[in-house]
Amino acid sequence: MKFGYFDDAAKEYVITTPKTPLPWINYLGTNDFFSLISNTAGGYSFYKDAKLLRLTRFRYNNVPGDSNGKYYYIKDGNTVWNPGWMPTKTDLDSYECRHGIGYSKWNSSKNGVSASVLAFVPTDDTCEINQLKLTNNTDSVKELKLFSYVEWCLWNAADDMQNFQRNFSTGEVEVIDSTIYHKTEYRERRNHYAIFTVNTKIDGFDTQRENFLGAYRDNHDPEVVFDKGACTGSIAHGWSPVAVHEISVKLEPGETKSYVFLLGYCENPDNDKWESKNVVNKKPAKALITKYQTDADVDKAFDKLKTYWDNLLSIYTLESSNDKVNRMVNIWNQYQCMVTFNMSRSASYYESGIGRGMGFRDSNQDLLGFVHLIPERARERIIDIASTQFENGSAYHQYQPLTKRGNSDIGSGFNDDPLWLIAGTSAYVRETGDVSILKEIVPYDNDMSVATTLMEHLKRSFDFTVNNKGPHKLPLIGRADWNDCLNLNCFSEHPGESFQCFGPSEGPVAESVFIAGMFVKYGEEYAQLAELLGDTAEAERARKEVKIMYDTVLEAGWDGDWFVRAYDAYSNKIGSKECEEGKIFIESNGFCSLAGIGVKEGLAEKALDSVKKYLDCKYGVMILQPAYTVYHLELGEISSYPPGYKENAGIFCHNNPWVSIAETVIGRGDRAFEIYKKTCPAYTEEISEIHKTEPYVYCQMVAGNDAYIPGEGKNSWLTGTAAWTFVNISQYILGVYPTHKGLSVDPCVPSDFGDFKVTRKFRGASYEISVKTNGSQKGVKKLIVDGQEVEGTVIPFVEGKKNYKVEVVM
Ligand code: BGC
Ligand code: NOJ
Repeated sequence: MKFGYFDDAAKEYVITTPKTPLPWINYLGTNDFFSLISNTAGGYSFYKDAKLLRLTRFRYNNVPGDSNGKYYYIKDGNTVWNPGWMPTKTDLDSYECRHGIGYSKWNSSKNGVSASVLAFVPTDDTCEINQLKLTNNTDSVKELKLFSYVEWCLWNAADDMQNFQRNFSTGEVEVIDSTIYHKTEYRERRNHYAIFTVNTKIDGFDTQRENFLGAYRDNHDPEVVFDKGACTGSIAHGWSPVAVHEISVKLEPGETKSYVFLLGYCENPDNDKWESKNVVNKKPAKALITKYQTDADVDKAFDKLKTYWDNLLSIYTLESSNDKVNRMVNIWNQYQCMVTFNMSRSASYYESGIGRGMGFRDSNQDLLGFVHLIPERARERIIDIASTQFENGSAYHQYQPLTKRGNSDIGSGFNDDPLWLIAGTSAYVRETGDVSILKEIVPYDNDMSVATTLMEHLKRSFDFTVNNKGPHKLPLIGRADWNDCLNLNCFSEHPGESFQCFGPSEGPVAESVFIAGMFVKYGEEYAQLAELLGDTAEAERARKEVKIMYDTVLEAGWDGDWFVRAYDAYSNKIGSKECEEGKIFIESNGFCSLAGIGVKEGLAEKALDSVKKYLDCKYGVMILQPAYTVYHLELGEISSYPPGYKENAGIFCHNNPWVSIAETVIGRGDRAFEIYKKTCPAYTEEISEIHKTEPYVYCQMVAGNDAYIPGEGKNSWLTGTAAWTFVNISQYILGVYPTHKGLSVDPCVPSDFGDFKVTRKFRGASYEISVKTNGSQKGVKKLIVDGQEVEGTVIPFVEGKKNYKVEVVM
């Protein structure tokens, strides 16, 4: 069952009922100012950091889940309604929410009045614009009242949720004309305030929440709107400041009136904070307000946003006979890659914005799907991430985006982290050819006095694995590898202890076959970077170490029909036929095979057949089987989850593309695509009632076969799935892969995929690539570049050449 449809021409998903199975959200903002916005107008805004600089208040864990946002109440006689349906939940005569790329739009109507709202964050200002249009579709005059409503967050979202003894006394506002200034804590250490304004004269306002809502009432039936019909002019002193505008609207038959609301973040220099005693300096606010006074101003900013995105989305485009794949590749998958790059795992409807900052491994992986869009930002990110690495090559697991400092609560010891830095850097250099990044001087743990080149950072990443091997000569796992819940050195017995941080940090003996697979893959990529710098001795040394690891995996990491997952602290196998539960895992089988381990020996094929046999289910490839049914002290969080959920036999969408990529490595395009389809939003849209999360983006986890409702998705948006599926479909299945020497084209598609075209902008040139598949799954028979046949699969890169016409025959 569907709750909407894709409008590909407009690059929008159109939601046709407010009653989606879960809130279906969108993200506004590209640089510093962001808003989360749901199909019922819920959500919140923040500047740069969802924890430290939150503008508006959202109540996670609320009932219903999505009941605070930017709301507009329309009072028409005795009927009060909202264009986004929430929070009054008045039945609408029509409703439509269009989530687009960086904006959302509503078109709704009630009793002959239609309302449209367009919400977006302009590309170059720190504000959100809401353009609201009201039209009278009846034959008689309509006299309406319009009320706006936002609830301010007192900036630090964590403190805002906890520290009521203080917070109920700090709130302060100013109201001048139609602008409400939220200036809590501005009197002391803050140099910023927020505004909510509208481009028309108002008939009233409120800034004290209870004055507007009324005692014991909530935003679904505010007293001012429902009973009094007019605002009270309250000025907040402590308690909970809000911003409400009241506007009387008279509409002749057929008439439309338009209002521009603006929620903005403003900053002053420390020495220029005040206009007069305790009166904030309004210069930055006035500049913002002046810029967005008319519909023409809004149209201009909106066009700019559209152009911004059209340009980004023109960098990789696909034309094939498969509409679902086209729309994922051309629109939604890339869009989600941008959002995960911006947010990491901080702010979604499942990540509260006050927990994790940027993840070391997460951000490096997010880069993989983002780097082609804005390589300069990827470059900056790589340097930020590398700056949180330790001198011995290990790394802080997370860092705060605002301070860019490593987070010492969680610390280090996640032994896959260092290798992801190689993955991210290699992707950047392959995309751009910018070798200079390798020579950048980058600190360790933000300490410039011990800084070295980025290449030296990568060497230490590489050597961290070389120097930290266990009894089987496999990499030590530490607190966990990619699977945060495989805590083999933790042994936590008491509730409340962190599964990851409890126990010895480096972990004395437990080993990871998954990290071994990563080492083989990214060890080779490291060797290639060394070669680029002319250091052939280092490349040779690296390849020797990679060879040793390869052989070790075949010796200690092969279980007969698949790859072992790990060795626990007692040196017992995990993910082996010897185990009672957790006999086979996805990660080691996917990653070792995609790294090429066992391909020539026929073992990768065997491993992938086993994955299909034991881990496949209707909704994706499960992370492990059989599920753990009891808690294992020696395994940690993985066995804490009920069977079928999360890392305990759920379908963790993030690692499904690894298996799909591995299938392309051995040339099985049918199977690679079958896996791609299972978790692909454009395909799961059909079963939205089961899947529940947004049908235009990936979610982190889908419940596996052991779960109560298999196929139920959770935790949408912020997941490494976005980047990895984009890498999978664009670079492996469609096969357009950036190498140091130029773009390689080596597709691996299902036999019935048909011919397709990819356009790709790469290192300043434009490539038009046409592929004739001839029913083949893999293998390039002919590569013709501008009429000339070329050996192999790589289009030779010619400096300065602007256009390449490429024909590929399979
Ligand atoms: C989740 C993991 C996540 C980790 C982050 C765990 O509870 O199950 O998916 O990576 O927390 O700290
Ligand atoms: C989500 C985390 O953000 C990521 O770092 C981890 O790899 C996966 N969960 C699997 O545990």
